[in-house]
Amino acid sequence: MNDLASVLVVRKKLVVGNWKMNGSLARNAALLGGLKAAAVGGEVERVVCPPYPYLVQAIESLAGVPIAVGAQNLSAIKEGAHTGEVSASMLTDLGCRWVIVGHSERRNLYGEDDVAVAAKVQAALDAKLMPILCVGETLSQREAGQAESIVHRQLDGVVSVLGAERAGAVVVAYEPVWAIGTGRTASPEQAQAIHASIRAFLASRGVNAAEVRLLYGGSVTAANAASLFAQADIDGALVGGASLQVEGFSEICVAAAAS
Ligand code: PGA
Repeated sequence: MNDLASVLVVRKKLVVGNWKMNGSLARNAALLGGLKAAAVGGEVERVVCPPYPYLVQAIESLAGVPIAVGAQNLSAIKEGAHTGEVSASMLTDLGCRWVIVGHSERRNLYGEDDVAVAAKVQAALDAKLMPILCVGETLSQREAGQAESIVHRQLDGVVSVLGAERAGAVVVAYEPVWAIGTGRTASPEQAQAIHASIRAFLASRGVNAAEVRLLYGGSVTAANAASLFAQADIDGALVGGASLQVEGFSEICVAAAAS
């Protein structure tokens, strides 16, 4: 499976910046200006995901620049009496092309379970937004030897609702919870092992897994990006902290383009 995935299909690298709940008009303007200047060519697709109130600022600032804009979350519901929620069609209306779904902070701090995450992925695809589905185990789950089974369960929640064909349109981000914002990255070998297992699991469920892009996330920096991207099943990165700095994000993109 692995050989098939890496030999027959070229998956363009994808680097996504998750700004989380950071930024201001002034700080974003500086960051976006720097990213624009640095986004020259290269075989890599770039996406930034600012907080909702700054999506328009980013979309306008990046017009004509090869950096797409995504949101960090969405509602599974189309419209109506849902105070505080934002629908998929609102995001596409603004010009968003991507959306992060099921980030571990959403799962752990805001109670999103596999059912809610699957509904959000479906709503995104229905609106022609590209979902970046986050999966990953906690430290205690890893220590209990459950990393693969947790990730497979999270994937299964989405594949069983979407079906194999639609699930093939999703980008998957493997983000071990213990590596997010901790400075403790999974080793390239640890990440590759789970990525290979994700691809094999998707294939076993009938998904065209060789074409699914699998991102790694969790303390990715310019210093460790190249060794992660050198792995056969790592097709890019979901970057938190390092995406708030022009050099950090741009150097990760350069490493992706060179891999
Ligand atoms: P980090 O965050 O790069 O700051 O670890 C990654 C993420 O949460 O997507």
